[in-house]
Amino acid sequence: MANQDEVTKAIGELLVPGVGRSLIDLNLLKSVEVADGKVNVTVADAAIGPGTQEWIKTKIEAAVEKIADGAQITTEFVAAKPMDVNQVTKVVAIMSGKGGVGKSLVTGLSAVALARQGKSVGILDADITGPSIPKMFGMKTRPIGSESGILPIISHLGIEVMSINLMLEDEHEAVIWRGPVISGAIKQFWEEVLWGKLDYLFVDLPPGTADAPLTVMQTLPVAGVVIVSTPQDLASMVVRKAVTMSHKIGKKIFGVVENMSYLEIPETGKKMELFGKSRGQEVADAANAPLLAQLPIDPKLAALCDAGDVEKYSTPEFDAFSKNLTKVLESAE
Ligand SMILES: Nc1ncnc2c1ncn2[C@@H]1O[C@H](COP(=O)(O)OP(=O)(O)OP(=O)(O)O)[C@@H](O)[C@H]1O
Ligand SMILES: [Mg+2]
Repeated sequence: MANQDEVTKAIGELLVPGVGRSLIDLNLLKSVEVADGKVNVTVADAAIGPGTQEWIKTKIEAAVEKIADGAQITTEFVAAKPMDVNQVTKVVAIMSGKGGVGKSLVTGLSAVALARQGKSVGILDADITGPSIPKMFGMKTRPIGSESGILPIISHLGIEVMSINLMLEDEHEAVIWRGPVISGAIKQFWEEVLWGKLDYLFVDLPPGTADAPLTVMQTLPVAGVVIVSTPQDLASMVVRKAVTMSHKIGKKIFGVVENMSYLEIPETGKKMELFGKSRGQEVADAANAPLLAQLPIDPKLAALCDAGDVEKYSTPEFDAFSKNLTKVLESAE
Protein backbone atom coordinates (compact mmCIF):
# COMPACT_ATOMS: atom_id res chain seq x y z
CA MET A 1 0.00 0.00 0.00
CA ALA A 2 1.35 3.39 -0.99
CA ASN A 3 1.56 6.09 1.69
CA GLN A 4 -0.27 9.39 1.81
CA ASP A 5 2.51 11.41 0.14
CA GLU A 6 2.74 8.99 -2.77
CA VAL A 7 -1.02 8.97 -3.28
CA THR A 8 -1.20 12.78 -3.02
CA LYS A 9 1.59 13.12 -5.56
CA ALA A 10 -0.07 10.75 -8.04
CA ILE A 11 -3.43 12.50 -7.74
CA GLY A 12 -1.98 15.99 -7.64
CA GLU A 13 -0.32 15.52 -11.00
CA LEU A 14 -3.58 14.86 -12.83
CA LEU A 15 -4.29 17.59 -15.37
CA VAL A 16 -7.72 19.18 -15.32
CA PRO A 17 -9.18 19.10 -18.83
CA GLY A 18 -9.84 22.49 -20.34
CA VAL A 19 -6.97 24.18 -18.52
CA GLY A 20 -4.22 21.59 -18.59
CA ARG A 21 -3.02 22.47 -15.09
CA SER A 22 -2.82 19.99 -12.25
CA LEU A 23 -5.24 19.64 -9.35
CA ILE A 24 -2.46 20.89 -7.07
CA ASP A 25 -1.56 23.88 -9.26
CA LEU A 26 -5.23 24.84 -9.39
CA ASN A 27 -5.42 24.32 -5.62
CA LEU A 28 -8.40 21.99 -6.01
CA LEU A 29 -7.07 19.04 -4.03
CA LYS A 30 -8.47 19.56 -0.53
CA SER A 31 -7.44 16.36 1.24
CA VAL A 32 -6.13 12.85 0.77
CA GLU A 33 -6.53 10.28 3.53
CA VAL A 34 -4.92 6.88 3.37
CA ALA A 35 -5.78 4.33 6.08
CA ASP A 36 -6.73 0.65 6.44
CA GLY A 37 -6.77 -0.05 2.72
CA LYS A 38 -8.98 2.94 2.10
CA VAL A 39 -8.22 6.12 0.17
CA ASN A 40 -10.51 9.10 0.65
CA VAL A 41 -10.01 12.05 -1.66
CA THR A 42 -11.71 15.43 -1.40
CA VAL A 43 -11.67 17.83 -4.35
CA ALA A 44 -13.05 21.38 -4.57
CA ASP A 45 -15.57 21.72 -7.39
CA ALA A 46 -14.82 25.38 -8.25
CA ALA A 47 -15.52 25.96 -11.96
CA ILE A 48 -15.60 22.17 -12.49
CA GLY A 49 -18.83 21.00 -14.11
CA PRO A 50 -20.44 17.56 -13.56
CA GLY A 51 -18.92 16.02 -16.71
CA THR A 52 -15.43 17.07 -15.75
CA GLN A 53 -15.98 15.90 -12.17
CA GLU A 54 -16.83 12.43 -13.46
CA TRP A 55 -13.71 12.45 -15.61
CA ILE A 56 -11.52 13.56 -12.70
CA LYS A 57 -13.03 10.88 -10.47
CA THR A 58 -12.22 8.13 -12.99
CA LYS A 59 -8.68 9.44 -13.40
CA ILE A 60 -8.14 9.63 -9.64
CA GLU A 61 -9.28 6.04 -9.25
CA ALA A 62 -7.01 4.86 -12.05
CA ALA A 63 -4.03 6.77 -10.61
CA VAL A 64 -4.58 5.39 -7.11
CA GLU A 65 -5.14 1.83 -8.28
CA LYS A 66 -1.82 1.93 -10.06
CA ILE A 67 0.09 2.52 -6.81
CA ALA A 68 -2.33 1.12 -4.24
CA ASP A 69 -3.70 -2.01 -5.75
CA GLY A 70 -6.99 -3.13 -4.24
CA ALA A 71 -7.56 0.02 -2.21
CA GLN A 72 -11.12 1.14 -1.67
CA ILE A 73 -11.26 4.61 -3.19
CA THR A 74 -13.84 7.31 -2.59
CA THR A 75 -13.70 10.68 -4.29
CA GLU A 76 -15.85 13.46 -2.95
CA PHE A 77 -16.39 16.86 -4.53
CA VAL A 78 -17.08 19.71 -2.15
CA ALA A 79 -18.72 22.98 -3.12
CA ALA A 80 -16.25 25.83 -3.59
CA LYS A 81 -15.98 29.07 -5.48
CA PRO A 82 -12.84 30.14 -7.36
CA MET A 83 -12.29 32.83 -4.71
CA ASP A 84 -12.03 30.07 -2.06
CA VAL A 85 -9.20 28.31 -3.83
CA ASN A 86 -7.37 31.03 -5.79
CA GLN A 87 -3.94 31.91 -4.43
CA VAL A 88 -2.33 34.67 -6.43
CA THR A 89 0.94 35.83 -4.94
CA LYS A 90 1.42 39.11 -6.81
CA VAL A 91 -0.96 41.12 -8.93
CA VAL A 92 0.88 43.52 -11.22
CA ALA A 93 -1.05 46.14 -13.19
CA ILE A 94 0.28 47.61 -16.43
CA MET A 95 -0.63 51.26 -16.75
CA SER A 96 -0.09 54.20 -19.10
CA GLY A 97 -1.11 57.80 -19.35
CA LYS A 98 -2.60 57.40 -22.81
CA GLY A 99 -3.73 54.74 -25.26
CA GLY A 100 -1.85 52.93 -27.98
CA VAL A 101 1.57 53.03 -26.35
CA GLY A 102 1.93 49.27 -26.10
CA LYS A 103 0.40 48.47 -22.73
CA SER A 104 -1.13 45.22 -23.92
CA LEU A 105 2.10 44.29 -25.61
CA VAL A 106 4.11 44.95 -22.46
CA THR A 107 1.55 42.94 -20.46
CA GLY A 108 1.97 40.03 -22.86
CA LEU A 109 5.76 40.28 -22.87
CA SER A 110 5.89 40.52 -19.07
CA ALA A 111 3.88 37.32 -18.77
CA VAL A 112 6.09 35.56 -21.31
CA ALA A 113 9.21 36.75 -19.48
CA LEU A 114 8.12 35.33 -16.11
CA ALA A 115 6.67 32.15 -17.62
CA ARG A 116 10.05 31.50 -19.26
CA GLN A 117 11.62 31.75 -15.80
CA GLY A 118 9.39 28.87 -14.75
CA LYS A 119 6.88 31.01 -12.85
CA SER A 120 3.16 30.32 -12.96
CA VAL A 121 1.59 33.30 -14.64
CA GLY A 122 -1.82 34.62 -15.62
CA ILE A 123 -3.14 37.62 -17.54
CA LEU A 124 -6.39 39.34 -16.67
CA ASP A 125 -7.38 41.48 -19.63
CA ALA A 126 -9.18 44.38 -17.97
CA ASP A 127 -9.39 46.31 -21.21
CA ILE A 128 -13.00 45.34 -21.69
CA THR A 129 -13.77 47.60 -24.62
CA GLY A 130 -10.53 47.02 -26.56
CA PRO A 131 -9.21 43.61 -25.60
CA SER A 132 -6.12 42.57 -27.56
CA ILE A 133 -4.46 39.91 -25.39
CA PRO A 134 -6.12 36.78 -26.90
CA LYS A 135 -5.13 37.77 -30.43
CA MET A 136 -1.50 38.23 -29.39
CA PHE A 137 -1.46 34.68 -27.96
CA GLY A 138 -3.44 33.17 -30.85
CA MET A 139 -6.35 32.16 -28.60
CA LYS A 140 -9.70 31.33 -30.09
CA THR A 141 -11.16 28.76 -27.69
CA ARG A 142 -14.15 29.81 -25.66
CA PRO A 143 -13.76 29.34 -21.92
CA ILE A 144 -15.76 26.62 -20.23
CA GLY A 145 -16.78 26.28 -16.62
CA SER A 146 -19.62 25.50 -14.30
CA GLU A 147 -22.16 27.45 -12.29
CA SER A 148 -19.51 28.30 -9.74
CA GLY A 149 -16.91 29.71 -12.12
CA ILE A 150 -14.96 29.87 -15.35
CA LEU A 151 -11.75 28.15 -16.42
CA PRO A 152 -9.11 30.37 -18.00
CA ILE A 153 -7.68 29.64 -21.43
CA ILE A 154 -4.10 28.42 -21.38
CA SER A 155 -1.33 29.52 -23.78
CA HIS A 156 1.41 27.35 -25.32
CA LEU A 157 3.75 28.40 -22.52
CA GLY A 158 1.10 27.67 -19.90
CA ILE A 159 -0.01 31.26 -19.26
CA GLU A 160 -3.61 31.50 -18.04
CA VAL A 161 -5.65 34.15 -19.83
CA MET A 162 -9.08 35.62 -19.27
CA SER A 163 -10.49 38.28 -21.55
CA ILE A 164 -13.92 39.43 -22.61
CA ASN A 165 -12.80 38.76 -26.18
CA LEU A 166 -12.78 35.03 -25.43
CA MET A 167 -16.44 35.22 -24.45
CA LEU A 168 -17.75 36.96 -27.53
CA GLU A 169 -19.34 35.03 -30.39
CA ASP A 170 -17.41 37.12 -32.83
CA GLU A 171 -14.10 38.60 -31.72
CA HIS A 172 -14.74 41.65 -33.90
CA GLU A 173 -17.89 42.44 -31.98
CA ALA A 174 -17.60 45.79 -30.23
CA VAL A 175 -18.32 45.93 -26.53
CA ILE A 176 -20.24 49.07 -25.71
CA TRP A 177 -20.80 48.97 -22.01
CA ARG A 178 -21.14 51.61 -19.40
CA GLY A 179 -18.68 52.14 -16.59
CA PRO A 180 -20.46 50.13 -13.89
CA VAL A 181 -20.93 47.13 -16.19
CA ILE A 182 -17.26 47.24 -17.13
CA SER A 183 -16.32 47.42 -13.48
CA GLY A 184 -18.59 44.45 -12.81
CA ALA A 185 -16.95 42.38 -15.55
CA ILE A 186 -13.47 43.06 -14.17
CA LYS A 187 -14.57 42.11 -10.68
CA GLN A 188 -16.07 38.91 -12.07
CA PHE A 189 -12.84 38.03 -13.85
CA TRP A 190 -11.03 38.35 -10.54
CA GLU A 191 -13.56 36.50 -8.41
CA GLU A 192 -15.07 33.90 -10.70
CA VAL A 193 -12.15 32.67 -12.77
CA LEU A 194 -10.32 29.64 -11.44
CA TRP A 195 -6.78 31.07 -11.49
CA GLY A 196 -5.56 28.53 -8.94
CA LYS A 197 -2.06 29.07 -7.59
CA LEU A 198 -0.23 31.80 -9.49
CA ASP A 199 3.07 33.50 -8.82
CA TYR A 200 2.02 36.49 -10.93
CA LEU A 201 -1.18 37.84 -12.39
CA PHE A 202 -0.59 40.65 -14.87
CA VAL A 203 -3.51 42.97 -15.44
CA ASP A 204 -3.79 44.80 -18.74
CA LEU A 205 -5.49 48.06 -17.85
CA PRO A 206 -7.47 50.17 -20.25
CA PRO A 207 -5.91 53.56 -20.99
CA GLY A 208 -6.33 56.54 -18.75
CA THR A 209 -7.27 57.09 -15.18
CA ALA A 210 -11.03 56.69 -15.48
CA ASP A 211 -13.38 54.06 -14.07
CA ALA A 212 -11.87 50.78 -15.10
CA PRO A 213 -8.28 51.29 -13.92
CA LEU A 214 -9.60 52.58 -10.61
CA THR A 215 -11.85 49.54 -10.21
CA VAL A 216 -8.92 47.26 -10.83
CA MET A 217 -6.86 49.08 -8.26
CA GLN A 218 -9.63 49.00 -5.71
CA THR A 219 -11.00 45.50 -6.33
CA LEU A 220 -7.81 43.54 -6.85
CA PRO A 221 -4.96 43.30 -4.35
CA VAL A 222 -2.56 45.01 -6.76
CA ALA A 223 1.02 44.80 -5.45
CA GLY A 224 2.28 47.49 -7.79
CA VAL A 225 2.23 48.91 -11.28
CA VAL A 226 4.46 48.99 -14.33
CA ILE A 227 4.19 52.22 -16.30
CA VAL A 228 4.50 52.17 -20.08
CA SER A 229 5.41 55.32 -21.96
CA THR A 230 6.78 56.30 -25.36
CA PRO A 231 9.25 59.04 -26.28
CA GLN A 232 6.30 60.98 -27.66
CA ASP A 233 4.65 61.28 -24.29
CA LEU A 234 5.24 64.37 -22.29
CA ALA A 235 7.25 62.76 -19.55
CA SER A 236 6.14 65.14 -16.89
CA MET A 237 2.48 64.59 -17.70
CA VAL A 238 2.67 60.80 -17.82
CA VAL A 239 4.47 60.65 -14.55
CA ARG A 240 2.29 63.20 -12.88
CA LYS A 241 -0.80 61.21 -13.82
CA ALA A 242 0.67 57.85 -12.87
CA VAL A 243 2.19 59.04 -9.65
CA THR A 244 -1.01 60.81 -8.65
CA MET A 245 -2.96 57.65 -9.32
CA SER A 246 -0.58 55.32 -7.55
CA HIS A 247 -0.51 57.68 -4.55
CA LYS A 248 -4.26 57.95 -4.53
CA ILE A 249 -4.53 54.20 -4.29
CA GLY A 250 -1.28 53.67 -2.43
CA LYS A 251 0.47 51.39 -4.94
CA LYS A 252 4.14 50.94 -5.60
CA ILE A 253 5.58 51.69 -9.05
CA PHE A 254 7.71 48.65 -9.96
CA GLY A 255 9.28 50.31 -12.95
CA VAL A 256 8.94 52.11 -16.25
CA VAL A 257 9.09 50.61 -19.74
CA GLU A 258 9.78 52.93 -22.60
CA ASN A 259 8.21 51.41 -25.69
CA MET A 260 8.87 52.36 -29.30
CA SER A 261 12.11 53.94 -28.13
CA TYR A 262 13.84 53.74 -31.49
CA LEU A 263 13.95 51.89 -34.77
CA GLU A 264 17.05 50.02 -35.81
CA ILE A 265 17.87 50.45 -39.49
CA PRO A 266 18.56 46.89 -40.72
CA GLU A 267 21.28 47.80 -43.24
CA THR A 268 23.34 50.00 -40.97
CA GLY A 269 22.31 48.94 -37.49
CA LYS A 270 21.85 52.63 -36.73
CA LYS A 271 19.26 53.55 -34.15
CA MET A 272 16.76 56.11 -35.30
CA GLU A 273 14.71 57.89 -32.68
CA LEU A 274 11.54 57.99 -34.71
CA PHE A 275 9.28 59.43 -32.02
CA GLY A 276 11.82 61.91 -30.69
CA LYS A 277 14.54 61.77 -28.11
CA SER A 278 14.26 59.02 -25.54
CA ARG A 279 12.75 60.14 -22.27
CA GLY A 280 12.71 56.77 -20.55
CA GLN A 281 15.27 57.63 -17.90
CA GLU A 282 13.63 60.99 -17.29
CA VAL A 283 10.25 59.33 -16.71
CA ALA A 284 11.80 56.67 -14.49
CA ASP A 285 13.69 59.23 -12.40
CA ALA A 286 10.59 61.33 -11.94
CA ALA A 287 8.60 58.27 -10.90
CA ASN A 288 11.43 57.27 -8.59
CA ALA A 289 11.41 53.80 -10.13
CA PRO A 290 13.85 51.81 -12.29
CA LEU A 291 13.83 51.98 -16.08
CA LEU A 292 13.09 48.34 -16.95
CA ALA A 293 13.51 48.54 -20.72
CA GLN A 294 13.73 50.65 -23.81
CA LEU A 295 12.03 48.49 -26.37
CA PRO A 296 12.56 49.30 -30.05
CA ILE A 297 9.85 49.49 -32.67
CA ASP A 298 10.25 46.03 -34.08
CA PRO A 299 8.34 44.99 -37.20
CA LYS A 300 9.06 41.33 -36.32
CA LEU A 301 7.33 41.81 -32.99
CA ALA A 302 4.30 43.40 -34.62
CA ALA A 303 4.14 40.49 -37.09
CA LEU A 304 4.36 37.91 -34.28
CA CYS A 305 1.55 39.68 -32.39
CA ASP A 306 -0.63 39.69 -35.49
CA ALA A 307 0.04 35.97 -35.98
CA GLY A 308 -0.74 35.12 -32.34
CA ASP A 309 2.86 34.12 -31.71
CA VAL A 310 4.06 36.67 -29.17
CA GLU A 311 5.48 33.79 -27.14
CA LYS A 312 8.11 33.16 -29.82
CA TYR A 313 9.65 36.61 -29.44
CA SER A 314 13.29 36.65 -28.49
CA THR A 315 15.79 39.49 -28.79
CA PRO A 316 18.65 40.78 -26.59
CA GLU A 317 16.46 43.78 -25.62
CA PHE A 318 13.64 41.50 -24.54
CA ASP A 319 16.05 39.31 -22.58
CA ALA A 320 17.35 42.40 -20.76
CA PHE A 321 13.78 43.46 -19.98
CA SER A 322 12.97 39.96 -18.67
CA LYS A 323 15.95 40.05 -16.36
CA ASN A 324 15.17 43.51 -14.98
CA LEU A 325 11.49 42.77 -14.53
CA THR A 326 12.13 39.44 -12.81
CA LYS A 327 14.60 41.14 -10.47
CA VAL A 328 12.24 43.91 -9.35
CA LEU A 329 9.23 41.62 -9.00
CA GLU A 330 11.10 38.90 -7.14
CA SER A 331 12.67 41.37 -4.72
CA ALA A 332 9.43 43.21 -3.94
CA GLU A 333 7.87 41.93 -0.78
N1 LIG B 1 7.68 47.89 -29.85
C1 LIG B 1 6.77 47.63 -30.78
N2 LIG B 1 7.17 47.24 -32.02
C2 LIG B 1 6.26 46.99 -32.97
N3 LIG B 1 4.93 47.10 -32.80
C3 LIG B 1 4.48 47.49 -31.62
C4 LIG B 1 5.37 47.77 -30.55
N4 LIG B 1 4.64 48.14 -29.47
C5 LIG B 1 3.35 48.08 -29.86
N5 LIG B 1 3.25 47.70 -31.13
C6 LIG B 1 2.01 47.54 -31.88
O1 LIG B 1 1.23 48.73 -31.70
C7 LIG B 1 -0.13 48.45 -31.50
C8 LIG B 1 -0.62 49.00 -30.18
O2 LIG B 1 -0.04 48.28 -29.12
P1 LIG B 1 -0.89 47.81 -27.86
O3 LIG B 1 -2.17 47.24 -28.30
O4 LIG B 1 -0.01 46.99 -27.02
O5 LIG B 1 -1.13 49.25 -27.19
P2 LIG B 1 -2.07 49.62 -25.96
O6 LIG B 1 -1.36 50.66 -25.18
O7 LIG B 1 -2.46 48.41 -25.24
O8 LIG B 1 -3.30 50.20 -26.71
P3 LIG B 1 -4.77 50.52 -26.08
O9 LIG B 1 -4.60 51.78 -25.33
O10 LIG B 1 -5.62 50.66 -27.28
O11 LIG B 1 -5.13 49.37 -25.21
C9 LIG B 1 -0.26 46.94 -31.61
O12 LIG B 1 -0.67 46.59 -32.90
C10 LIG B 1 1.14 46.43 -31.34
O13 LIG B 1 1.40 45.19 -31.96
MG1 LIG C 1 -4.40 47.56 -24.85
